Amino acid sequence: MCDKEISKIKKEIEHFKPKTLEELNKFRIKFLGKKSGIITNILKNIHEIPIYKRKIIGKIVNDLKKDIKKKIYENKFNINNNINNVDLTITGNSPNIGSAHPISIIKNRIIHILSQIGFNYINSPEIEDDWHNFTALNIPIWHPSRDMQDTFFLCNNSNFLLRTHTTSIQIRYMKKHKPPSRIFSIGKVYRNETVSSHSNFMFHQMEAFYIDKYVSFSNLKKTINYIILSIFGKSIIRFRPSYFPFTEPSAEVDVYYNNNWMEIMGCGIIDPIVLKNVDIDPEFYSGFAFGLGIERLALMIYKIKDIRTYFDNDIRFLNQFKGEF
Ligand code: DAH
Repeated sequence: MCDKEISKIKKEIEHFKPKTLEELNKFRIKFLGKKSGIITNILKNIHEIPIYKRKIIGKIVNDLKKDIKKKIYENKFNINNNINNVDLTITGNSPNIGSAHPISIIKNRIIHILSQIGFNYINSPEIEDDWHNFTALNIPIWHPSRDMQDTFFLCNNSNFLLRTHTTSIQIRYMKKHKPPSRIFSIGKVYRNETVSSHSNFMFHQMEAFYIDKYVSFSNLKKTINYIILSIFGKSIIRFRPSYFPFTEPSAEVDVYYNNNWMEIMGCGIIDPIVLKNVDIDPEFYSGFAFGLGIERLALMIYKIKDIRTYFDNDIRFLNQFKGEF
């Protein structure tokens, strides 16, 4: 593969501006198609390249592959959200099209990061029953940690409640799917909290878990390190021993940010009791899990001082996020 070919492909990627998903698909097949994609073919025949050149060419081709995938990802998002069809030349009284909410921006960013390392996103219900939210997660009725997670119960059936954490998706998913599983979900959770600058009765959480044979704490550390690095551009973190009923051992992760250690997430190795509760044999499988608060992460990233600002619907606040999604 010569320089000319490389710069030709680079230019083609750069100038490619698809309007439809079909165009985007043609582009994907041309370069990454399984049978005769240009990049696929080069990688397939890479063993024919003399060994001294292989490393350099391999890197160039893999970089091109990344650029192509990025192009596909971004354009898919734009086409699906009709972003390319917004007429930027309209002047005068064009409607103010608004901006994405900071919580959605962070949520999208996390979805992007976790999808890249093989986690699948699933939706999850906000109304849960006692078993999914507490008991199956090793939080029986007498457990003191229930006090910290008091919530809103449904009047006509107090077995149902607004979930206190997204960790309940572990139970929902594991009950139906045998390992290996690499899953995450993001959504609203509810607590009986006094509303103040740093706590609210409703907030958003992300929960992720991975179950397979031989999943270890070092797998968990590496994954979290990667995520923090992707979010903040650098990763200075520490794991502090902690306690959660559904993980053993458990830890809390702090990030060093703006000259401060900030607690950012809880994590651990899924307790064998939880696996047994969903008929997964802990002798064969192990898993890790972690959960983080989206509001808190957004507070750090955007230097927001009061958590209530998110839901005041003040247009001056929201306008600051124009252009991000
Ligand atoms: N569910 C916990 C909370 O709401 C957060 C959490 C801690 C999730 C540890 C996890 C975990 O998956 O392993 O505070």
